Amino acid sequence: MTDLYGRNIDYARISVTDRCNYRCVYCMPEEGVNFIPHKEILSFEEIVRIIKILKELGIKKIRLTGGEPLVRKNIVELVGKITKIGLDDVSLTTNGSLLKIYAEDLFKSGLRRLNISLDTLNCERFANITRKGTLIDVLEGIEKAIAVGFNPVKLNVVVMKGINDQDDLIALANLTIDKEIHVRFIEIMPIGDNDQKDKFISCEEIKDNISKFFKLESTKGPFGNGPAEYYKLKNSKGTIGFISPLSKHFCAKCNRIRITSDGMIRLCLFSDVEYNLKERLRSNLTDDEIKKFILETLSFKPKGHPYIQKAREIYHRNMSAIGG
Ligand code: GTP
Ligand code: 5AD
Ligand code: SF4
Repeated sequence: MTDLYGRNIDYARISVTDRCNYRCVYCMPEEGVNFIPHKEILSFEEIVRIIKILKELGIKKIRLTGGEPLVRKNIVELVGKITKIGLDDVSLTTNGSLLKIYAEDLFKSGLRRLNISLDTLNCERFANITRKGTLIDVLEGIEKAIAVGFNPVKLNVVVMKGINDQDDLIALANLTIDKEIHVRFIEIMPIGDNDQKDKFISCEEIKDNISKFFKLESTKGPFGNGPAEYYKLKNSKGTIGFISPLSKHFCAKCNRIRITSDGMIRLCLFSDVEYNLKERLRSNLTDDEIKKFILETLSFKPKGHPYIQKAREIYHRNMSAIGG
């Protein structure tokens, strides 16, 4: 699929649930989140049907997101159905808390790569950032994922000024020396009810903080479809990536659409305009009619987003309900 600006759209991020066992401070508020009722969430059959239709339209890569995708009941079964469709790449983004339980079965069901959120290696800070999490669960989950064969394993670090922008950067960068782990530092995005707008720190500043301790060499980075730019430390096995959605727009290279867990097509993370795919799926349209609808909506994919620090005031969804 090509959009009006000539961008080839071959990647879809599909959120399978808006629920999560954590409450990360940058993602959703501690309490008072209205989760989507179960009957509004796409069924496995609907998700598989969408992916098959998207494949015919030229989508080659699928990423499953949440909330936390592993809290969706029978997620391993869904992953198995999706990996059998014959796409070039199927991946999943998780908070890692349940990987101890699911990593092996996910691998057996055909999944090969995982991106795992991990913002600090300090237990207390981890508990404060996730509000509900225990660091050791995620560390054991990462170990398990590597042990069963996932590759590449990437870690997502949302960096917040005054919280994890100093020693955590060094401790996390250090992980890449001995292990084939790819640590990506991400600029915090002001989406949803996250109240973190004073915590923004740019990737340039993050890089400067790391460069006080390590020399970063530019490198190609692991396989992926996302916007990270990669570096490595001398003789390290893994890499260090930077994702700069605010300081360095990657809109011109955008290759993706999103489907929310309640079946809305979202053409840009920073645009709240959504198109109701579920309504079409549930009204007996043929696959061809659905294809036509998707192609029509694609013509509304915006060229880019402005620099919007005030964004959280205008978004109706939290990041957890979009899937990042
Ligand atoms: P791969 O490169 O294929 O491994 O995936 P990825 O890095 O795109 O996926 P992941 O789910 O790990 O996302 C990492 C970070 O990039 C998250 O903070 C996402 O919210 C952010 N991100 C992913 N896609 C976009 C995008 O289109 N726009 C913006 N602004 N941020 C994005
Ligand atoms: N800004 C940047 N990244 C975020 N994520 C969640 N919320 C935000 C935010 N406000 C990241 C998490 C997760 C990925 C899907 O999105 O680190 O790994
Ligand atoms: Fe859950 Fe991920 Fe949001 Fe944290 S960032 S609350 S783990 S969905």
